[in-house]
Amino acid sequence: MTIQRTLSIIKPDATRRNLTGKINARFENNGLRIIAQKRIHLSRKQAEGFYAVHSERAFFADLCKFMCSGPVVVQVLEGDNAISTNRTVMGATNPANADEGTIRKDFGESIEANSVHGSDSTENAEIEISFFFSQTELVG
Ligand code: CMP
Repeated sequence: MTIQRTLSIIKPDATRRNLTGKINARFENNGLRIIAQKRIHLSRKQAEGFYAVHSERAFFADLCKFMCSGPVVVQVLEGDNAISTNRTVMGATNPANADEGTIRKDFGESIEANSVHGSDSTENAEIEISFFFSQTELVG
């Protein structure tokens, strides 16, 4: 058993369609605990900072604009192998390629408006969690 924490974002396409509760149920039904959560409206600067690793990609500007287009819910999920568990629950980045029953297959609209983000490694999870949360906000 390896208990991990991962950073999750419920994206603007999902908050716009009032899907926060349905998405959170997917996490909880798969053994992930929401140990921190807040609904915020990202500034352009915050979005660019969060996705800095993608700054050279052609989709960077559109991605940042989209992430600022409405509220997001940033959250920390904890559980056994939380990083890979969450990636399985989310499904492939492009909803068109995601497995049946995954969040992105069921709710994602496009590769950009794909409803959720999740950390892809333990290293990035630590960086991403500390981008949005202080240690005292993590209540396991
Ligand atoms: P996310 O997990 O939030 O990490 C980066 C995001 O960039 C990704 O999900 C997608 O929503 C978005 N994106 C937009 N276009 C592309 C693309 N062509 N390839 C990969 N990611 C893309």
